Amino acid sequence: TFVVTENCIKCKYTDCVEVCPVDCFYEGPNFLVIDPDECIDCALCEPECPANAIFSEDEVPDDQKEFLEINAELASKWDNITEKKDPLPDAEEWDGKPNKKPLLER
Ligand code: SF4
Ligand code: F3S
Repeated sequence: TFVVTENCIKCKYTDCVEVCPVDCFYEGPNFLVIDPDECIDCALCEPECPANAIFSEDEVPDDQKEFLEINAELASKWDNITEKKDPLPDAEEWDGKPNKKPLLER
């Protein structure tokens, strides 16, 4: 599966959802996740993310590994998203900021 990691938080550009052939992205207030049971590992979403927040599960950086569990958990709670929308208002400002994990709204 592919995994959305920390740098999506407070950016949520949503370019990723447009290319997913199986529509397996789920949306929360300031973050998206991928449902690991639905993702077919096509890799199309990874280069689309302007924040470079998407990784193959084999390539998730060590300090981001907890997002494997976060994606699985929140995918079952949040609503499906299949069309691009505007990023969050301060996306550019938040892109690349460290330690955004405490800001994740569930
Ligand atoms: Fe969707 Fe493919 Fe990305 Fe998986 S790797 S979330 S199937 S676009
Ligand atoms: Fe998030 Fe990147 Fe998609 S910022 S919403 S994973 S395009």
